[in-house]
Amino acid sequence: MPTAGMQAFWQAPGSASALRLARAEGIYVWDDHGRRYFDVTSGPVAVNLGHGNPRVLAAMREQAARAAFAYPSQLESEANLRFTARLCAAAGPGFDHAFVVSGGSEAVEKCLQFARVHALATKQPGRWKIIGRLPAYHGSTLGALEVAGDMGSGVMAPYLHDMPRVPAPLTYRLPDGHDVVSFARHCLAELETTIAREGADTVLAFLLEPVIGLSGGAVSAPAFYYDEVRRICSRHGILLIYDEIITGAGRTGRFLAAHHWPDARPDLVVLAKGIGGGYWPLGAFLAPAVMVEAVASGPGFHYGHTHKGSPLGCAVGLAVLEETLDRDLPANAERVGARLRDRLRALQPTLPLLGDVRGIGLLNAIEIVADPVTKTMLPREFPVIEDLKALALTEGLLIYGRRSYAGRYGDWLMMTPPLIATESDIDALVDGVARTLRTYADRLAREGRLRG
Ligand SMILES: Cc1ncc(COP(=O)(O)O)c(C=O)c1O
Repeated sequence: MPTAGMQAFWQAPGSASALRLARAEGIYVWDDHGRRYFDVTSGPVAVNLGHGNPRVLAAMREQAARAAFAYPSQLESEANLRFTARLCAAAGPGFDHAFVVSGGSEAVEKCLQFARVHALATKQPGRWKIIGRLPAYHGSTLGALEVAGDMGSGVMAPYLHDMPRVPAPLTYRLPDGHDVVSFARHCLAELETTIAREGADTVLAFLLEPVIGLSGGAVSAPAFYYDEVRRICSRHGILLIYDEIITGAGRTGRFLAAHHWPDARPDLVVLAKGIGGGYWPLGAFLAPAVMVEAVASGPGFHYGHTHKGSPLGCAVGLAVLEETLDRDLPANAERVGARLRDRLRALQPTLPLLGDVRGIGLLNAIEIVADPVTKTMLPREFPVIEDLKALALTEGLLIYGRRSYAGRYGDWLMMTPPLIATESDIDALVDGVARTLRTYADRLAREGRLRG
């Protein structure tokens, strides 16, 4: 029963309460009744290393004892210097500096503010619009909501500028008459049209998740899309910003998702979630030296918050990063992620409700439909995702899923286990998901709610 705690803020009186966490280790969490659950989605795709990693805990303890806090304009910290150097090295050429903050939404905000300050520093004051995509999620602060349009942007509309948005290249729920390639081309044409309509010299940046995360369920585009986006942005002097808050830190099988499309390198990259691994609220944006120098030799960038560059956060970030790279977890994500999709796809012909299996590395989703042939969704009045999440708990699976934009982009469950997951963990996950879907379909059929 929720009391004064977090649950009270969103849970209607009388509704089932969430699990209460007792402890967590590796890919598992335990509730206060001693029941164990596989953390199938790493929380909301954050706990990349799993829970209780000894190296991260040791780094945290050591830095907390040495100096937990330093304000960067007063004190430079060794922890910040070491973390940012290592992070930029992992990100590769073109990413020379990292501005470290306290989470994803803040990192998006700071990146957009940096882009604007850069426009002023380079004598382009007319550039301020950020083109976003639909669907997209970039966080729940006002600036992030302004660009993305998911979760809460309707309620907060009075505070928000109406930023231009273009369709994202979906791969499953395609408009009539389109296949994956033709729709990606259509999305590119829409980007060109939007830039022309807005006036190219008013557009500051195009912000996108290279693989759609929690607003559409693990959707990546054909490779030519990224290359063409890069060309379009360069042609018009528009900054290309990748929000890699979910895709970064090894989740897609490369350290950055951007590394999958090396000819389409973005100008700026935003990171969070996986770089702190759930151990610390950490975010960052990465920028090339030429942009940072232009800003530093002009107005400077004075938009940080109190915990920017936190030594404790940076020490955690460094330990997470070293663990990720030393154990080559991106390669593991690529390997076991392929197994996850292969196994689910092999079951698809016999598995009810499974419409689509998609993803890259360990950023995956399954889409739930009434009829896999027609892709018809289950009736909107069914709380499909809530039902499935509750059923999955009885299989020992803790899963995050959504019906985003009131169902416009389908019903889906994320399949994003920690990057440490082994092949046998993946097999257990697939078996549990298959049982969950069968049980749910049986229940709907028994209640006469699903034909078949
Ligand atoms: C792609 C993306 N960007 C930004 C955010 C916001 O990050 P945070 O919740 O840490 O503020 C999220 C969170 O889910 C996200 O998925």
